[in-house]
Amino acid sequence: MDVEIVGRVLSTLPADDDHPYRTGPWRPQTTEFRADDLTVVQGEVPTDLDGVYLRNTENPVHPALRNYHPFDGDGMVHVVGFRGGEAFYRNRFVRTDGLLAEAEAGGPLWAGLAERPAIAKRDDGWGARGRMKDASSTDVVVHNGTALTTFYQCGDLYRLDPRTAETLGKATWGGDFPFDWGVSAHPKADDRTGELLFFNYGTQAPYMHYGVVDADDKLVHYVDVELPGPRLPHDMAYTENYAILNDCPLFWDPELIGQGHYAARFHPELPTRIGVIPRRGGPESIRWFEAESTYVLHWVNAYEDGEEIVLDGFFQGDPEPADNGMGNKWERAFRFLALDRMQSRLHRWRLNLRTGLVREEQLSDTVTEFGMMNGGYAGRDYRYAYAATGKPAWFLFDGLVRHDLKTGTEERISFGEGVYGSETAMAPRVGSTAEDDGYLVTLTTDMRADASYCLVFDAARLSDGPVCTLQLPERISSGTHSTWASGDSLPGWATSDDPATAVGL
Ligand SMILES: [Fe+2]
Repeated sequence: MDVEIVGRVLSTLPADDDHPYRTGPWRPQTTEFRADDLTVVQGEVPTDLDGVYLRNTENPVHPALRNYHPFDGDGMVHVVGFRGGEAFYRNRFVRTDGLLAEAEAGGPLWAGLAERPAIAKRDDGWGARGRMKDASSTDVVVHNGTALTTFYQCGDLYRLDPRTAETLGKATWGGDFPFDWGVSAHPKADDRTGELLFFNYGTQAPYMHYGVVDADDKLVHYVDVELPGPRLPHDMAYTENYAILNDCPLFWDPELIGQGHYAARFHPELPTRIGVIPRRGGPESIRWFEAESTYVLHWVNAYEDGEEIVLDGFFQGDPEPADNGMGNKWERAFRFLALDRMQSRLHRWRLNLRTGLVREEQLSDTVTEFGMMNGGYAGRDYRYAYAATGKPAWFLFDGLVRHDLKTGTEERISFGEGVYGSETAMAPRVGSTAEDDGYLVTLTTDMRADASYCLVFDAARLSDGPVCTLQLPERISSGTHSTWASGDSLPGWATSDDPATAVGL
């Protein structure tokens, strides 16, 4: 492995930090690396794996003003690129306005999710509730050959080179970016049409918008989505002809908002509302379907099936887990992040466009979340979902499940004691002809080895274990959202001698 340190960021976190989401498997990095020809610990790098795996990370540089929440950390993007049977690695902080301002100030300036906005040191800020730092540490997607990082409370989209993870700037869409509302956690890049579908939300009517950016990076559609009040939608889905939005009954107490408190409460007496809108439809064309009360953090996929829309995602059996007195103070404080406490299971909603009725079914007994699939099947009938299992009581992924949605069977692997994975992306094999003809790629934080690895599995044979294990330069923080971009979707990739070289996007 050929390693070079390309950057260091000064951390002001305390040496005796005891926060479990800033220590142990969540210990943030301060170093940025360029590493080529990654050391192969086991197996061989497949020669038909070609492209980049990108993962975002909440990687805090400064302590919180009072209480750190694991979603507050500054964005750091890890890249593992594969070409010709070799692999490279890059990691860079997302150079957000907030990161740069706090670097200058030498400490935190904005309030985090577990803090009241009123304690922020600055009056400005980002997010649906305001006076937060847009850390751009939530998701990363690739649209139009450029990586975009996101902020779950709605913020800017930072543009990164998907090979080097270097920040290039912010999406402006020719000046039409909705700067006052921002974009939520999970915009969707539809590789078939080249479009980026997105939504945002806020505390003022209409409380949500939905929009479409075309393959030329132009905002071509942006409409109001009227909700009954402020909501906290996190994800969306789409089919060939429709975008699918949601109004789940877990939202900030509207009376407390007026007093500056943002307390999310679940309302089991209210239905989950699922909104279906033609992809370029006007505000009047949205149709709402009522389903069983829950909160859905992530959808997996959706597709049209005759007069029905099939929508798959993770149903939470307990969106507001009570403090049951079990575990230490941290486990109790962050019980809302533990998959076993939320009881999230793969679920299918069938929305009947003719009758307006919804049929629901649980697809698996296994508690999983953070589902991924072959991106070439997004919006279409599909068969396989790959999802994470969680370490009980913690926001840590301890294994991976391959759900076969046609047979209802599943294959499951554990990463092993003290080893935590990331959201696992599916990378179709070059020239693949079947949905599961490809690889599953994830990054691990291995506390036993005090190291991190990139694991590559054969997507059709998960239980055989990794076909390849690559070592990263140092142990990285645990992290979640990721994506895969094939080499042929990246400008200059195929013609460059060194695929990791920036091509001036
Ligand atoms: Fe998410």
